Amino acid sequence: MPTRFAIGQQARMGIGLLLPQSGTYAGLGHAIANGLNMALAKTGNRLAGREIRLVVGDDGSNAATAAAAAQHLIQAEKVDVLVGAVHSDSAQGMVKVARDTGIPTIIANAGWNAATGASCASNVFRTSFSNWQVNWPMGKVALDRNYRRVATITWRYTAGTEMIGAFEENFTRLGGTIVQRIQMPFPQMDFAPHLAALAAAQPDAVMAFFAGAGARQFITDYAASALKGVPLLGPGFLTEGARDLPAAEGILTTLHYANGLDMPVNRHFRAQYSAAYGRSADVYAVQGYDSGQLIAQAVETVRGDTNRAALIAAMETARIDSPRGSFVLSKAHNPVQDIYLRQIRNGEEIVLGIAQRALADPAPGCKVK
Ligand code: BEZ
Repeated sequence: MPTRFAIGQQARMGIGLLLPQSGTYAGLGHAIANGLNMALAKTGNRLAGREIRLVVGDDGSNAATAAAAAQHLIQAEKVDVLVGAVHSDSAQGMVKVARDTGIPTIIANAGWNAATGASCASNVFRTSFSNWQVNWPMGKVALDRNYRRVATITWRYTAGTEMIGAFEENFTRLGGTIVQRIQMPFPQMDFAPHLAALAAAQPDAVMAFFAGAGARQFITDYAASALKGVPLLGPGFLTEGARDLPAAEGILTTLHYANGLDMPVNRHFRAQYSAAYGRSADVYAVQGYDSGQLIAQAVETVRGDTNRAALIAAMETARIDSPRGSFVLSKAHNPVQDIYLRQIRNGEEIVLGIAQRALADPAPGCKVK
């Protein structure tokens, strides 16, 4: 039964939102919060009769800050569920606290592979993607286009290393060659010397992971460098929020979402989001929205019960009717989802097809599988 603190009145449901409040990923966090709020507004900000209380914390884009903020949300703010983080290192801090405390936790962006791999836990869920999942299909896409010698560039931190690593794994397995590898400190944006080093390797194409403000700068600098005209590939984060740039024309990406998906749920979501926030929805907004949908579905299933085990069991069996297409969670709690192939053409993001259908992360080392 739901906790009752006065006759006829149920305890409010506390959701702790752990997102970056400043820096290169702040805009991504903002979109996640908007999407989550939109999903909760659909239910009148009440779930199974319980009023929702949102409390925001700063994940600080690093593990220690995220862990401290997560502890604060749980101990001082007494939230029932945690939702966050954007940065893969923040996810490591958040997941450690989740494992230590048992609080139901939903990762709404960070792709850190081990969150639904070796460090998986019965109370940790992800509505976004694993770093492996969105990049592995690009290895075959590149070779299908006869890009046999590829150079890679990213920020040197968990997400960059894992995303480029997944691309390289598939690409080299199928016979491709990596001709140059560059990793630069996060969130540095001094791209020019690195672009010159990539150009010197004369690649058939370049594969890059950057996101947020850094991605916009990279795309602009790339088009102004000696690499202009060399095909640019990446996970879709590279062009989310950058399709308005003339320099983004032609960039080929893989991602678990695309603006142009021709499905009623997506069209409705995008129209509602634009009307509510005066800007276009992106993948981050979708992930926030689906985190809200997952909470709503689970809380309704257990009729507002505060019992954690019941809530976790309800999350495990949820099917989310997402703007990306309907999905379920794997045994390791990561979405099993289609990975789309997209390209920027005339300032629009075009869906070229599905690069890999119903892709599940292999979740190596996960013991709850
Ligand atoms: C990450 O750190 O996991 C991440 C950040 C931005 C976009 C995608 C992934």
